[in-house]
Amino acid sequence: MSFDTVIRGARVVAPGGVSVCDIGIENGVITALGASLDGAAEVIEADGLIAMPGGIDSHVHIAQPSGPGVEMADDFTSATRSAVAGGNTTVLPFCLPEEGQTLREAVAAYHAKAEGKCHCDVSFHLIVIKTDPVTLGQDLPALIHAGHTSFKVFMTYRGMALSDREILEVMAVAREQNALVMVHAENEDAIEFLRDKAEREGNTDPAYHARTRPVPVEREATHRAITLAEVADVPLTIVHVSNGEALEEIRRGRARGAKVFAETCPQYVTLTADDLDRAGFDGAKYVCSPPPRTTDDWENIWSGIVGGDFELFSSDHCPFRFDDSAGKDVPGARKSFRNIPNGIPGVETRLPILFSEGVVKGRISLERFAAITATNHARLYGLKSKGAIMVGMDADIVLWDPELTRPIQQADLHHGSDYTPWEGFEVTGWPVRTILRGRTVMADGTLTGAPAGGHIARGAPEILL
Ligand code: URP
Ligand code: ZN
Ligand code: ZN
Repeated sequence: MSFDTVIRGARVVAPGGVSVCDIGIENGVITALGASLDGAAEVIEADGLIAMPGGIDSHVHIAQPSGPGVEMADDFTSATRSAVAGGNTTVLPFCLPEEGQTLREAVAAYHAKAEGKCHCDVSFHLIVIKTDPVTLGQDLPALIHAGHTSFKVFMTYRGMALSDREILEVMAVAREQNALVMVHAENEDAIEFLRDKAEREGNTDPAYHARTRPVPVEREATHRAITLAEVADVPLTIVHVSNGEALEEIRRGRARGAKVFAETCPQYVTLTADDLDRAGFDGAKYVCSPPPRTTDDWENIWSGIVGGDFELFSSDHCPFRFDDSAGKDVPGARKSFRNIPNGIPGVETRLPILFSEGVVKGRISLERFAAITATNHARLYGLKSKGAIMVGMDADIVLWDPELTRPIQQADLHHGSDYTPWEGFEVTGWPVRTILRGRTVMADGTLTGAPAGGHIARGAPEILL
């Protein structure tokens, strides 16, 4: 047998288990796993390293319209540069229509923005904010058919939130067309009530972002989203679950037989609401929705990661610059937390944080790490040739140095934001080489070539439960 590339001697994390073997790659595809593979044009010596499936981050926001005067810190070049530096080979950004755009026009515009710019593969989820007959009857079915087989609906954010009836209408399309609905579960009316009250009382600092989005707001919406999915008889994903009470609703839903999948993110096991209370305006760096909670909730979320309740560990990368009037410091943001753009950067740090906090600290196995950072994302969102080190799959592989200990520092990161919420956070384990369809795209923190990523049309979701 001959190969373009052989990766020699790594501990390989494959669906069948972990073993030391060689990985043979031909034409961008894994063609052999075994001992002493010869006949390769390129040999990558990987003694002492761990070979994992390239990370798939199925929840990122890139170049997304974010309101008047606000600009996301990443375009497709910088976001995917940051993704591969952090060991990812595929990201799934959301496609949000701009004012007056149809969903189909929005998707075409995103394709144009991404074309030729991506250092890793990408595939777009849709965001459904309108439920008119053209969107539901024409655009959505056509886009699903073209490989956009998942879409997000919001229960919060004025202008984006759908009513229960509208969510049911969207779910009905998902059922008919075999697509998957993702839900951002927070009760907008309750948030508005608390936000107005806080402002009336002069409580306008960033900390009040978290105080006006308390756990019950997320718990109630999580319960309601699952209930709506039961009514519509569809599976759903609850994204960015932040706390134990929302997780409890998911467990209860599953016990009733609901097909509910769950995602969580690094911020819910490493940051707290106290971070939003940092001196001056620094708390704005941590404003995201749902907000980080408490250290007790870290333990609740870990129990779900360890126990198998979470299929997905994503970043919810949604980067804004801090020291920037088109970012966190947009006019009005210092007057009220209401105006601070929601979201934090994290596509590059997701995997090192979970590796360090999860694998190195003995909470999860290498196999579970691979499942919740890559394999489940591929299966649930219909990326048929990705997410596992297996013969016949795309050679999307990340090599880890499991012993490299370093602090996370903005100065070392590749995103377009000017800060990281994890400045100084020490991790052990770091991705040292990222291989996209057989080609090395990052080695030792340096990107090794022109953008080689493309858009992937996805198949039907695989219902994992
Ligand atoms: O604060 C966040 N998470 N911003 C991104 C948009 C979303 O809700 O996922
Ligand atoms: Zn969301
Ligand atoms: Zn998000």
